[in-house]
Amino acid sequence: MTYLNPQCISAAQFRAIRNNIDYASGGSKPRSLLITSPGSNEGKTNTTVNLAISMAQRGDKVLIIDANVRNPAIHDVFNTQISPGLINVLAGFSTIKDAVYSTEIGNLAVLPLGLLLSNSIELLNSISMDELLKLALDDYDCVIIDTAPVLDALDINTLASKCEGVVLVLKGGRTQRELALKAKHSLEFFGKAKIVGVVFNKALR
Ligand SMILES: Nc1ncnc2c1ncn2[C@@H]1O[C@H](COP(=O)(O)OP(=O)(O)OP(=O)(O)O)[C@@H](O)[C@H]1O
Ligand SMILES: [Mg+2]
Repeated sequence: MTYLNPQCISAAQFRAIRNNIDYASGGSKPRSLLITSPGSNEGKTNTTVNLAISMAQRGDKVLIIDANVRNPAIHDVFNTQISPGLINVLAGFSTIKDAVYSTEIGNLAVLPLGLLLSNSIELLNSISMDELLKLALDDYDCVIIDTAPVLDALDINTLASKCEGVVLVLKGGRTQRELALKAKHSLEFFGKAKIVGVVFNKALR
């Protein structure tokens, strides 16, 4: 939406979300954001992609990382290979530069999930992930991580603790209040996450 039809209402809403995230981050642009939701299919990937594009469109150099080991989708959206990607880099099989794909959107690059290994979740929560984020931030203004649902995968909390901010995606008319609160508490209690805001996706009008 933000790329193919930047004048549409949804694209304008993503620009507003981008600006509100800056505001919620104390007025400075956040360097690392994790996008999650309580359950599946609530719009995490859609939010990740459109938010990243709206940041790239204002001139920020942005890297999307696909960390959704349950249902990786970033390679499909940008039509890249799935591997090499994040897991290959964390396992020491590839360098970031080998695994990052440029996109037709200037300033926006993607790191797909990569090869799934039996210890992928441990790798995501390892010190290698901290190092990868640190290296990525030498080259990019912002890193945005697309993840699995937080209530399906408590390890997302550890990943959240490595990021400056977390955006919680809720599906209008679908996400139950209890599950939204459970996700919030889980991220704040276990991940010590700073939730910078909620995206209310697919809201009924
Ligand atoms: N605001 C929206 N309007 C219309 N369709 C949407 C919207 N947000 C998401 N979708 C569609 O809903 C489906 C699920 O969205 P998305 O893949 O972003 O969810 P997800 O939370 O990443 O799912 P998963 O838990 O599987 O990773 C996709 O087909 C997507 O194109
Ligand atoms: Mg997804």
